[in-house]
This record gives sequence, structure tokens and C-alpha cells, in this order.
Amino acid sequence: MYTTTNLLELKENAKRKLSPQVWDYIEGGAESESTLQTNAEAFTKLSFTPRVLQDTSTVSTKITLFGGELDIPLLLAPVSPLRLVSEEAEIPQVVAAHRTGIIPVVSGNSHFSLEYLAKQSNGEKWFQLYAYANMDWVLEIVQRVEHAGYRAIVITVDAIHHARRERSLRSGFTMPAHVKMGNFEQCGTVPEKRRDGSYQMFPLTWSDIALIKERTNIPVLIKGIMHPNDVKLALDYGVDGIVISNHGGRQLDYATSPINQLPIISKIVAQTIPLIVDGGIMRGSDIAKAISLGASAVLLGRGYVYGLALDGVEGVVKSIELIRNEYSAYLKQLGVSSTEELSELINLQ
Ligand SMILES: Cc1cc2nc3c(=O)[nH]c(=O)nc-3n(C[C@H](O)[C@H](O)[C@H](O)COP(=O)(O)O)c2cc1C
Repeated sequence: MYTTTNLLELKENAKRKLSPQVWDYIEGGAESESTLQTNAEAFTKLSFTPRVLQDTSTVSTKITLFGGELDIPLLLAPVSPLRLVSEEAEIPQVVAAHRTGIIPVVSGNSHFSLEYLAKQSNGEKWFQLYAYANMDWVLEIVQRVEHAGYRAIVITVDAIHHARRERSLRSGFTMPAHVKMGNFEQCGTVPEKRRDGSYQMFPLTWSDIALIKERTNIPVLIKGIMHPNDVKLALDYGVDGIVISNHGGRQLDYATSPINQLPIISKIVAQTIPLIVDGGIMRGSDIAKAISLGASAVLLGRGYVYGLALDGVEGVVKSIELIRNEYSAYLKQLGVSSTEELSELINLQ
């Protein structure tokens, strides 16, 4: 058994358990890993001015997003392939999220099919879409997602091109044969493979987003927006939510950090649609910082993969509980009794 008091310790335990090659695949970032480092460091530069003599005997961490309730303002990020760290792949992500009252965003590159994963819990689930092949292929997936009962679609737009992840280049990492693309089997068209073995992406543009919006009744969010001009376009195209993200530092080296972009983007969006932020979240205080700066919620990426690698469903539950308990205790220390009260306490340098 492992004893851990926080996600950083859980990470050390996961590192000891996984092979160096798999560890480097999960942990690594693009090129010099400057973005990866910036994501984590940006949180350490933010601080709060707490309130006192407030009644914090009970604290409510709950929020609602598109009508669904979450126990804390946290969702489990789409990560693939989870089969690399656990035979059960995405199943523990889905089951643990339901058990702890939060929402999993299932990766479009999942090992198991989206229909199979939809049946693994009665809880609310969101689906993350990667565009492959052509628009017919994309619209077929959108229809399957809605039919399977997912409550939102998150379209990832920052990973069209293959990134140079040097840790994986050095270790000669190749995808093991037991990792599958579970959603491809039922598709009419099978996307073409690139020379490196990955699949050819379809380069979406804003008009394709408009078409997807037209064809579905569930909220459509865009993941990977960082630039204010793209935020304005997202609003013009009627996108239902934005995930401010640099893909956990895995795509563009020297990309700025999502938490640094949040105040600028929050001002533009002016609470018209939910803003979700990710990248480097490891502490309850990181969640509080994001909410204070205008986010509705955050995504936890690697933080739950560590738990998954160590102990399947129980491990993911452990990851969520560690950060949830920190968040709840942190609100009390700040002198606020609910997530909504968090604004106006943060100090911006
Ligand atoms: C190993 C790994 C695989 C990922 N796979 C996906 C994916 O399939 N789809 C996606 O939209 N984002 C993917 N991401 C990005 C995450 O959704 C998220 O943006 C990022 O992990 C957040 O940063 P954090 O790991 O510091 O929490 C992946 C990230 C990692 C670390």
C-alpha cells in the first residue's frame, strides 16, 4: 500500500510503479518542456488575501455546469491512451468520477468504445472529440456521442499536428499492440495512418464548428483556446464553453500558461459561457486560484492518471479525494464558505 498526503506524493509512487518509457510518455512535454514547467510555476506566483471572522463552519464546494451538479469544480481531463497505465483503461476514470460526484471527459482516442464507456456508470459524462478522416466521419461520431447519452462534446483543437516530445523520441517509444482505438471499429471510414503510426487528423476550421453545432443538441465546448481573438471567434460562432489549455505542455513549447491567460479571457467572456482551465493543477489551492480568476471549473489531467496507474478505480478515487479535501479545507482557511464566494480574494501581481 502507498501512503500519500497529496498528489505530488502520489506522482512519486506512480513513477516508481511505471516503466521509464511509459512514465516519460505520460509526463513528458514538447521539446524543451518550457511550457510544462511554466504551467506548474504560474500557480506558485499567485497568492490570496484571506478574510477572517466569517462563518465557515460548513463549506459548500458544489457548482453546476450546463445544469449538471458537480461536488467540486473539477472534471477529469481526456487523457489517452489510459490503457498504457491500466488494463482497465478509461473504465476507472468513468466509475471514479461518478463515485465522487464529478464528471469525466472521455477521450475520443479511448481504448474502449464510447458506447461501452457510456454504460460503465449512471453518472453524467462528457466526450472529447478529435477530428479524423473528414467531416462525414466527424458528424458520425457526434451523432454516436449524443445517442450514447453524453451531456457535452469537447472538441480539442490544439493537437492537429504531431508534437516533438523528446523524452519519447529518446526512449524510442512506440504504441504497444494492446492499446486500441475503440471508436474506430464502428466507423464507416477508417482514418489513414501517418508514417509514424498515428492517425491523420482532419484540420477543422470555424465553419466546421458551426456545422457540428447545427447537428447536435448538446453543448459544444472548444478545448485548446488561448488567444483572445480565438475567444472572440468562439463567442461569435456560439460555442457553449471554452477550455483554456495548452494540452498540458505537450504540443507547443513556449506557449503561455492557461492560468496566466485566464484573467484576459475571463474579461472578454464576461460570464456569458463557462470557462474551464487546465494545465499544472495539483493542489486544492490551484482550483481556488482558477475559480478566483474567473474559471467555472478546472480539468485534472496527469493528477488522476497517477492514481489510475497505482490502483485502478480506487486510485482515481484517491486522487480526487486528495485534491477535494485540500480544496474544501482551503476555502475555510480563506474565510469563504462556498465556491461562489471565491472571487475578489486573489492578489494579482
Ligand atoms: C498522457 C496524456 C494524454 C493526453 N491525451 C489527451 C487526449 O486524448 N485528448 C485531449 O483533449 N487531451 C489530452 N491530453 C491533455 C489533457 O486533456 C489536459 O489538457 C492536460 O493533461 C492538463 O494538464 P495536466 O496534465 O498538467 O493536468 C493528454 C495529456 C496527457 C498528459
